[in-house]
Amino acid sequence: MEREAVLVGIDVGTTKVVALIGEVGRDGGVTIIGKGTVPASGLRKGVVVNIDQTVHSITAAVEKAERHSGWKIDRAFVSVGGQHVDGLNSPGQVAVAGPRREVTQEDVNRSIEVARAVSIPSTREVLHVVPRGYTVDGQEGVMNPLGMSAVRLEVETHIVTASATAVQNLTKCVTAAGVKIDELVAGGLASAEAVLSPTERDLGVAVADIGAGTTELTLFADGSPFHTAVLPVGGANVTNDIAIGLKTSLQVAESLKIDHGTCDVAGLDPDEVISVTVLGDEAGRTVERMEVCRIIEARMRETYEMLRTEILAAAPGMLPAGLVLTGGGAQLGGAAALGREILEMPVRVAAATEVGGLVDGILEPPYSTAIGLLLWGARHLGAADLTTYESAPAGGLVGRIRGALRSVFP
Ligand SMILES: Nc1ncnc2c1ncn2[C@@H]1O[C@H](COP(=O)(O)OP(=O)(O)OP(=O)(O)O)[C@@H](O)[C@H]1O
Ligand SMILES: [Mg+2]
Repeated sequence: MEREAVLVGIDVGTTKVVALIGEVGRDGGVTIIGKGTVPASGLRKGVVVNIDQTVHSITAAVEKAERHSGWKIDRAFVSVGGQHVDGLNSPGQVAVAGPRREVTQEDVNRSIEVARAVSIPSTREVLHVVPRGYTVDGQEGVMNPLGMSAVRLEVETHIVTASATAVQNLTKCVTAAGVKIDELVAGGLASAEAVLSPTERDLGVAVADIGAGTTELTLFADGSPFHTAVLPVGGANVTNDIAIGLKTSLQVAESLKIDHGTCDVAGLDPDEVISVTVLGDEAGRTVERMEVCRIIEARMRETYEMLRTEILAAAPGMLPAGLVLTGGGAQLGGAAALGREILEMPVRVAAATEVGGLVDGILEPPYSTAIGLLLWGARHLGAADLTTYESAPAGGLVGRIRGALRSVFP
């Protein structure tokens, strides 16, 4: 395959840091050539709470990917997680400037600039300004206005922001691990990149990445995101509930959940018991599987109810393609079925599929964000999309993307 670029994605999650090195072909396809996964410490609910530990985790993942691939990582696309990540929609309107009254790139950039100029407090950092579509002299639904005759150009954008201090702390950690940042990408947008089909995005779809500490929800319609929210609950809450309910350690609760857990309580044999042999102390103890799964079901039910409230408030009746679940927490038995019951929409569990190469063990829901970062990077290598970031400071994304061609050294 002819190589267009080599990119790196680093997903800094609550339970694990994943570094992936991917080769982008001329056709835009991504081939994984190196990977490193390590358990994370130093994060709470997607946010850095201990710099040293986080740096250590990122360094370990990067070194692992380097050893695996034989390349040296210089820079990377990095995920941003946590409840502080938020989205808003903002329009921008300009008069078409040129003497021929034809929309130019300059007009498009100015309209995005106007949309971006909404008052965002200085405590927030803008991660993304995604143009969703244009209105040209009142004609809505224009995807590419370039060259159209018009007097007035309007853009609708989805802006994703994050807490400035959380972003600074994450940036500090990545930099201290010896890695420059190509771009910070909201984790939910990265995951969506990995698991959604173009048809789903066009029709209207929700994607929820259920991690350990958070659930990242992103809604799409007409091909673009229009709602971003992060709920402060995830798989770790399920484990906690089991530990409290059954008075066991977190390790025992986690393995009970993973080995025997399901949300499908109705399908269980009421007499089934599980012997707990994980820890010396608890050897010989038995628990009823029904009891474990009732706890799981209750927490997952509550999580879906939170998702339903969020989705209904943002997009009543707008998501014919339903909900796509990913992230480690989506691997829970019966997760899709319970989702269907509560949300009353189609629900499927998904992992990335559109990548090749060294994919052993990573075409699984917990790796959607990491793979999505590479797909995001690959897609934005296309010059057309770079206009989104025209307002980035000098040496900003345009320069950074070109630099991405040198993300790694052999
Ligand atoms: N087979 C499984 N069944 C149920 N839950 C699982 C399974 N495998 C992993 N999990 C849960 O998935 C969660 C971890 O998911 P993931 O790796 O996506 O999180 P993360 O990216 O580290 O965290 P976050 O996105 O919240 O920062 C844990 O709570 C774990 O218990
Ligand atoms: Mg995650």
